[in-house]
Amino acid sequence: MEQDEQGLKRDLFGKNFYWGITTAAFQVEGSCDTDGKGASIWDEFTKKKGAIKDAQHANTACDFYNTYEKDIELIKQLGIPNFRFSISWTRIMPSGTGAVNQQGIDFYNRVIDLCLQNNIEPWVTLYHWDLPHELELKGGWTNRTIVSWFSDYTKVCAQHFGDRVKNWIVMNEPMVFTGAGYFLGIHAPGRKGLKNFLPAIHHAVLCMAEGGRVLRRMVPLAQIGTTFSCAHVEPFSNKPRDVAAAARADALFNRLFIEPVLGLGYPSKTVSILKKISKYQRPGDEGKMRFDFDFIGLQNYTREVVKYSLFTPYLHARLIKAEDRNVPITTMRWEVYPPAIYHILKKFNAYPEIRNIYITENGAAFPDAISENGEIHDKERLEYLQETVGHVLKAKNEGVNVNGYFIWTLTDNFEWAEGYHPRFGIIHVDFETQKRTIKASGKWYSNFLNHR
Ligand code: BGC
Repeated sequence: MEQDEQGLKRDLFGKNFYWGITTAAFQVEGSCDTDGKGASIWDEFTKKKGAIKDAQHANTACDFYNTYEKDIELIKQLGIPNFRFSISWTRIMPSGTGAVNQQGIDFYNRVIDLCLQNNIEPWVTLYHWDLPHELELKGGWTNRTIVSWFSDYTKVCAQHFGDRVKNWIVMNEPMVFTGAGYFLGIHAPGRKGLKNFLPAIHHAVLCMAEGGRVLRRMVPLAQIGTTFSCAHVEPFSNKPRDVAAAARADALFNRLFIEPVLGLGYPSKTVSILKKISKYQRPGDEGKMRFDFDFIGLQNYTREVVKYSLFTPYLHARLIKAEDRNVPITTMRWEVYPPAIYHILKKFNAYPEIRNIYITENGAAFPDAISENGEIHDKERLEYLQETVGHVLKAKNEGVNVNGYFIWTLTDNFEWAEGYHPRFGIIHVDFETQKRTIKASGKWYSNFLNHR
């Protein structure tokens, strides 16, 4: 058995380690306007010419809205004990504020109840990037009123699901949805520039902490966390200006959102442009930005190599593409580099303010070939996952306080601006027929979890 060759055994992580799988509403649900659902910024963005590769959209995606019973059955069959999924804000509140859509509540009640009936623990993410379009028309993340919109939405979720959901994740990767959506314009809502990015950062930080407080009040026994995208950053050379450039990139990718939440403020000593966030700060915000999360979710996929660059505005740092470094890459053109997770764990474990770390996403996209007998031998993904889990164990054995690992993702799905081309699933989806096929990586995960 491969896990024996690797020496990797679930028991080595201890009894209280959470093993799971992650999805996100917009990427899998489809049924984009069914049963009263309102439009999100991603429903609108996917209609824009040139926004998504091959003009693909997520109107049907994996059809999880209709196939959730089968997909939860697959999770059960694989013996995965924890399922992290997100709630679509506009299914619950079609306009973002005000009226609650009972049919949306009913859907998530069905999903939650079915998980519990099957001994699968639900982990709910409140915000995985699908902001209500109507709120975007009012300024979206650049409008400070979002703190009260988000607070109200959190209250509705806590009120309806808090009796059964004990694990909550306030936000998914604020750096990605503010950076790609409000600075680079390559994700919804497609806004660009500092005038959008800087207020979006500050309001996302305020919302993370506010969401945490609402949940603490309304679901007192819940485990409350939030997740951050993180990349292991290395300088291209030992030259001081490459080292300094790498430190700036690291501050932007890894420190920007966690540090204000921990009460350490924005890393503006390292990235001076961040001082301009003060324009959006009000007296008393320092306190409002903080929340004592029960756990921090780290999500890592690769490493970045960074070089000084005069021509990159604000950051003066440039990422050296993996393709130009002659290293193995995934369909996303990200370097295949399993040790990244070990470095990231060491780095975040050094913040004494962090109480507990879970890896809430990790995975890799590779092209999958279906063999004649219908099997999918996704050797590259399987090895990547095995090696990464090995690096999590190494970090844990060295004293890192890491107590969970969730794979991204259950089924191949809608990979945002990249459409359906990158396949991250441990279950293959034929998007024509919605047929699911468990890949070798899925079988490995199942064996690893269940054959102790
Ligand atoms: C996101 C997912 C995404 C995955 C792979 C993470 O940034 O949370 O929604 O599909 O990475 O790109």
